Amino acid sequence: NEVLKQEEEETENSEGYITVGFSQVGSESDWRAANTQSFLDTFTAENGYYLLYEDAQNKQENQLKAVRSFILQEVDYILLDPVVETGWDSVLQEAKDAGIPVIVSDRKVVVSDESLYTCWVGSNFEEEGRKAGEWLANYLETRGRSRETINLVTLQGTLDSSAQLGRTEGFSEVLALHKNWNMLEYQSADFTQTKAQEVMERFLAKYPDIDVVICENDNMAFGAIDAIHEAGKTCGPDGDIIIISFDAVRAAFEAMQEGKINMMVECNPLQGPVVADIIQQLERGEDVAKVRYMDEKYFDTSMDLDFIIETRTY
Ligand code: AHR
Repeated sequence: NEVLKQEEEETENSEGYITVGFSQVGSESDWRAANTQSFLDTFTAENGYYLLYEDAQNKQENQLKAVRSFILQEVDYILLDPVVETGWDSVLQEAKDAGIPVIVSDRKVVVSDESLYTCWVGSNFEEEGRKAGEWLANYLETRGRSRETINLVTLQGTLDSSAQLGRTEGFSEVLALHKNWNMLEYQSADFTQTKAQEVMERFLAKYPDIDVVICENDNMAFGAIDAIHEAGKTCGPDGDIIIISFDAVRAAFEAMQEGKINMMVECNPLQGPVVADIIQQLERGEDVAKVRYMDEKYFDTSMDLDFIIETRTY
């Protein structure tokens, strides 16, 4: 049939190259676009790679199909950025049985047997959540608000994804230390701007005194900001509502410069070269670290944002 024919042709075209089958989450955010681009720029024919790229459109079932198709095509490596953490045991066992190493990037997999994948490269999402909480505690303290009741809401990412679970968990640890912080509601907006705007509109209609919005990515912060402005309120350092975000993409720096975002925790999407390094190590028969964290910082309006924006590539 047509699919098999196409797969055979692709396998023939890949002769002499290291073939990598990449199952990406989707294209839900600016961060995701930068992450995909990092892999497309790294896994080029010029660098000796043949990349099979599949966008899963945020659906695990599409990823299961993609991984099985990579196995059929006998790729050299499978690169998986899993939408959610669980449900991977069978397909990873199939890859292992076929002798194909699986590198997991960005989000994690939770499996019964860690040998089902070679290694994971990504962000320390719990630490990101903690950094956001600690920053907020310090910010409120320096403004003499550490004893005030502070009402918060959280726009969560895709439920059961590592980025959502880790950020929620890390922030919750700091939340638990502050009895005057009142988390009014958590709701997922799937890491997208449109859904975040809708959820934020509902939050604003339901809760008249929101002090802080935790946005588990920048695109959701953009949606929240639009909803806040439409409701006739303001946000950012001089506004009614404090906005905390995750990712730190260029457009978020611009929003911060415009005084709409208070703080963001960086999530580094440039994972392509790191994964390529790992593949080269494996090609040389070397052992690789099971876990590799990306370097990440946080940013707020007290910093030199002009300099950061100049050097930001995404
Ligand atoms: O898994 C990383 C997260 O997924 C990013 O924070 C978010 O923007 C993306 O959609």
